[in-house]
Amino acid sequence: MDKSILYTGKEMAEYYVKYRPTYNTKLFETIVEFYERDKGQLCNFDLAVDVGCGPGQSTLPLAKYFNHVIGVDISTEMLAHAPKDVDRVEFKLGVGEDLHFLQDESVDLITAGAAFHWLDHGKFNNEVKRVLKPGGVLAVYCYRFPTIEKDAGNEALLEYQKKLSQCWMLDTYKMEELYGRLPHPFACETRKYDGVDMTREVTVTEFVGLLLSFHDWWLYKKDNPHADDIQKLQARLEEIFYEENSVMKLTYPFGLVIGRKPL
Ligand SMILES: C[S@@+](CC[C@H](N)C(=O)[O-])C[C@H]1O[C@@H](n2cnc3c(N)ncnc32)[C@H](O)[C@@H]1O
Repeated sequence: MDKSILYTGKEMAEYYVKYRPTYNTKLFETIVEFYERDKGQLCNFDLAVDVGCGPGQSTLPLAKYFNHVIGVDISTEMLAHAPKDVDRVEFKLGVGEDLHFLQDESVDLITAGAAFHWLDHGKFNNEVKRVLKPGGVLAVYCYRFPTIEKDAGNEALLEYQKKLSQCWMLDTYKMEELYGRLPHPFACETRKYDGVDMTREVTVTEFVGLLLSFHDWWLYKKDNPHADDIQKLQARLEEIFYEENSVMKLTYPFGLVIGRKPL
């Protein structure tokens, strides 16, 4: 699978930062509670590393709990949208599979939000085992295409997804299922975590912006330069939701897998 096109588009990164959902505080509270529950003696809220950080959706909230947070991402375009000069937070261009700038047993928590599925798991998991302190935690989580409250809206979305599925780089749209089987390095809790509220209300225009932040549209467009499926979907949704600015209620499926390096 050629992943070089992932998140390297300037336009896609702009849509990403504007229209992707952020996570609510419950997610970070859940992760921190797990970390704290049986943390090792060396674990002291010193350093968290957020891999595949993008513009920093998880990196910034972690600074509430950890003394120092490093966001790492492979994409210059995504990092260009990360905030600069935030106290105790830094962003680095790099890959999750090579964390050479981190010493052995130096990290308390590693997170990967909507990014674990893109990594080379053998290499990444070896780095995780190396850099985490004993008792440190790896938390990976993801959401995927939301469902729309009105059935007719959902049907239109499914039709669009079906059309684009030829360009979807993973073998399933069911992220909870995928996250259940990806190789996490430690014995872990796997759950479709319902405590994190992933319902959002958006206008049709915002929803289309969200779709433009997913790579599959851009891959599809590369192969089909004249494709107008997204415009057609927008027109259908505007009919269903009556006018451009009426609100659509979305629910994103969400999964969290969390595990601890043995003491
Ligand atoms: C869907 S975005 C997630 C961004 C953010 N963490 C969030 O939760 O919204 C996936 C991110 O993973 C990054 N990425 C993909 N492969 C990577 C790798 N091997 N190492 C580091 N980052 C990677 C992409 O550039 C992109 O910013």
